[in-house]
Amino acid sequence: MTDFRHLEVRPTPQTFVARVRGVDLSRPLEAAVSAELLAAWARHPVLVFPGQRLDPAALQAFCGVLGPFGHDPYVEPMPGFEHVIEVRREADETAPIFGSLWHSDWSFQATPPSATLLYGAQVPPLGGDTVFADGYAAYESLSPVMQELLAGLRGVHSAAPSYGPRGLFARDDESRSMRIIVSPEAENTETHPIVRRHPVSGRRSLFVNHVYTIGVEGMRADESRALLEFLFKHMTRPEFVHRHRWHADTLVIWDNRCVVHYADGGYEGHPRLMYRSTVAGERPAA
Ligand code: SIN
Repeated sequence: MTDFRHLEVRPTPQTFVARVRGVDLSRPLEAAVSAELLAAWARHPVLVFPGQRLDPAALQAFCGVLGPFGHDPYVEPMPGFEHVIEVRREADETAPIFGSLWHSDWSFQATPPSATLLYGAQVPPLGGDTVFADGYAAYESLSPVMQELLAGLRGVHSAAPSYGPRGLFARDDESRSMRIIVSPEAENTETHPIVRRHPVSGRRSLFVNHVYTIGVEGMRADESRALLEFLFKHMTRPEFVHRHRWHADTLVIWDNRCVVHYADGGYEGHPRLMYRSTVAGERPAA
């Protein structure tokens, strides 16, 4: 049982993920319902809404309930929907899966998105899960000595390994159906606190990820590699991980400030199509 009046919010055993029923996200929400939804999201950084019928227009409209739109670089938006991208993979596609390593969306931006919304439009009969890890639990389980060592450190984030001229997507073959943009701009870097305080919950989480965090400010390359390798491994320990199995007509919202995720494969021979929008975030603060 939960204390919500308008929504049925059922946490999964790990509690950072909850399933939400009792709301139709394709229609405008009453203020009390949106307030409850935001309260549920502050408590459970990954919310799963089964049984929703959303087209790109409805997804874009609902995204506005959570805040202003984020800026999605390096992927062309859907025609007619400036704030929606397709995460698409055809049955016979062989290019690497989009988002297939642990990351927090666009963490290389000065103000990375707070939320990502992902809607399962065409879900394969097996595989294609999205896997999440709880950055709060990972931080809170570190020893006080390690927490102190990390306080004040800043991670260096860059899109170069993915979208730079020598990045993963620059090597794509022509079989990719997603419209990805490779650019020298991806070589820019931003630094963010490695331990981030959430502006709503006030909790601290680890804010580094395999894909975009390329170093630790002020450390030698071998030092930062060792520290980041430890953190990446620690953050994705099985006890912090939840595997989301998709069913059609499900929307998932996650909080990039305290959760990392990746897209799993295992659906060769089947198409997969998701609609994705992001909500603007703030500059990460320690
Ligand atoms: C993403 O990383 O945004 C894509 C996740 C997915 O396709 O499951």
